[in-house]
Amino acid sequence: MLRIFFATVLLFSALCVDASNLSTLIPRPERVEKRSGVFTILTTTKITHYPGLRSSAEYLSEYIPLEIREYNETEKGNIVLRLNKNLASEGYTLDIGEEGVIVEGGTAAGVLYGIETLMQLLPASVYSRTMALPTMVGACRVEDAPRFEYRGFMLDVTRTWMDLPMVKRFIERLAHHKINKLHLHLSDDEGWRVEIRSHPELTEVGAFRGVDSPVAARYGRWDEHYGGFYTQDDVREMVAYAAERNIEIIPEIDLPGHSHNLARVRPEVLCNYTPSLTASDGYDSRNVLCVAKEENYALLDDVVRELAELFPSEYIHIGGDEVSTAQWSRCPDCQALMRKEGMSDVSQLQDYFTRRMERIAAKYGKHVGVWNEAAESGSIDRSALVYGWESKAACKDVLDKGYRTVVMPGEYFYFDMRQSAREEGHDWAAIFDVRKPLSFGFEEFTEEQLSRVAGVQASFFSEAYISRLEYDYDFLYYQTYPRICALSEVAWRGEGDGWESFYNRLTTAHYSRMEAMGIDFRMMPPQVKYKDGVLIATTDDRSQIYYTEVGTEGEKLYTAPIATDKPQRFAFRTRRAGARSPEAAVAAHWRKLQPKVKITSSIAESERFPYSNAEGYGRIARTSRVGIKGDWIQYTFDEAVQCRRMEIATGNLQLPRFIFTAGYMEVSYDGEHFERVADLKGGGAVIENPRRGIKAVRVVCTQSGNGESFVTVQEPKIYPVL
Ligand code: ACM
Ligand code: ZN
Repeated sequence: MLRIFFATVLLFSALCVDASNLSTLIPRPERVEKRSGVFTILTTTKITHYPGLRSSAEYLSEYIPLEIREYNETEKGNIVLRLNKNLASEGYTLDIGEEGVIVEGGTAAGVLYGIETLMQLLPASVYSRTMALPTMVGACRVEDAPRFEYRGFMLDVTRTWMDLPMVKRFIERLAHHKINKLHLHLSDDEGWRVEIRSHPELTEVGAFRGVDSPVAARYGRWDEHYGGFYTQDDVREMVAYAAERNIEIIPEIDLPGHSHNLARVRPEVLCNYTPSLTASDGYDSRNVLCVAKEENYALLDDVVRELAELFPSEYIHIGGDEVSTAQWSRCPDCQALMRKEGMSDVSQLQDYFTRRMERIAAKYGKHVGVWNEAAESGSIDRSALVYGWESKAACKDVLDKGYRTVVMPGEYFYFDMRQSAREEGHDWAAIFDVRKPLSFGFEEFTEEQLSRVAGVQASFFSEAYISRLEYDYDFLYYQTYPRICALSEVAWRGEGDGWESFYNRLTTAHYSRMEAMGIDFRMMPPQVKYKDGVLIATTDDRSQIYYTEVGTEGEKLYTAPIATDKPQRFAFRTRRAGARSPEAAVAAHWRKLQPKVKITSSIAESERFPYSNAEGYGRIARTSRVGIKGDWIQYTFDEAVQCRRMEIATGNLQLPRFIFTAGYMEVSYDGEHFERVADLKGGGAVIENPRRGIKAVRVVCTQSGNGESFVTVQEPKIYPVL
């Protein structure tokens, strides 16, 4: 008998993972109190709910398939969901006792967050809907409420098309992190993603680019009619799915700049002059709407009316970022409007445009959301919600002007930025990993500024995603998680809780949760040391380490230190289901050669970005026009170059844009005779293990135009024999 008792106690403690989970919550709640005892969720446990909380109960039952009943005082041993008007609307309390679980929320939103916290206290398998019952959860009380009412994420579904199931999956995972706004970037230069029934051409034509579309492919996939859009039924389904998770969708149509797509579908929206198109091989790449055309406002009125019907949000985001005024300066109609309105500066036309859009939005019961540039002059209405993306200073500037502001400086919250120097993604705002958003604080904000902060948002612009869709992991999730976990912490609590606490919660429990959610998240790289002829890799996050060796195929599991006199040949990364770290290696592994090179081309160089920029390694160069079939760019080395790999790329560093859209690469070992070695892919090509030293290499264009007015010429990337 005693033996059975001890065995039960042992089994019981082994199942009691929950008590430790209390210290692994993300975001960390305001107050947690551990209590003694446990509650056991059995297959017969019920979810009972107050009237009005049926959908909250259904939400929980998606993850734990228990019977749902209306609340009944006399029944014990259940998970009870109820409202408590004394709590903040998104606030909740979670009481777990031996008798049952009680989740109370100020509103259904608060109840949802109580449920999310309860799920974090359970085994991670709850997220994959595979949790075995019975399951024990340790007694405790959690009291919690968010610091900010706006906890957002902006997803650019335009540059890379993300269909309805994909967005729903993204929403589901945001909800697990207590994010409550999804700002959907529905139009940009390269696409229009929402059906507007009064103007079907916006999606019938504008939702696709490349091949026979009037919209150039840009960002790759030149041989594909690429794209897609949400029908209005899709939008309704998405909005409802998000609402069940307390996520409000704020639609953005990016105007009056970033409108190249619209201008290709409806060229009459552009300013009234004929641009020179010789450099772009006849392609009109203008992207700014004419402000003086009344017809444009009629079109936008139709768009806003339909968006207002589709999206319940108080706001319609109308963009307003990065508007080049050069086109307005050349337009006689815009100039006449300036005179009529008594404007002295062309930038005032943007204020005029925003105010017109405010009036249109108001007709349909909405306020506008704008990027910070649109509020810079302080002349648009204070009902606008401003998105401060450029810097902390830009946020403070619009806060001082009296605007309610969503704080999202790119250097902290643009999750399309790469996470370390050698990883993929952009770097124009900063290079940062999860530690950076976690470190965001409002210390430099005055009380008055803080009083207008609506909240915090992060974003993922998807220019660099489309050319990475074929990866064996999902680059969107690699870029956004665990950085969204840090966003969650900062947006919910107002500040991070320090790296040590956060990393501990992440690695002891949240990695498993993300794994069960199916997220291909990014881990910290392993540490690599070389000493006394031995290469040692270590990691502190319980993941497994794998390595590759230059010159051998495939990846091997690292199980012991590697004795070698060539440590530079090895690179290590950690993996865990779909998650992975970037590679780590001794510095010599990354070395590149920079032999003396001369760049020549059938196309004249740009005056501002001459070819010598790329010859000097470190800066990019440009041609003076796009490539026409037969054009070439050649790299001739002073001395034949011995290497293991040479990459030649046209286009931006992280994007197949400003490229030769099709063509091939040729190599010469004597500087005279060239042999074709590879087709261009995304504007570039690679030669591996050349059989001799390379004297010259060139890329040849076989398809004219690229939707722009130049080709970017990069330095050659040359990797030594190791
Ligand atoms: C932006 O990143 N242009 C808002
Ligand atoms: Zn104009």
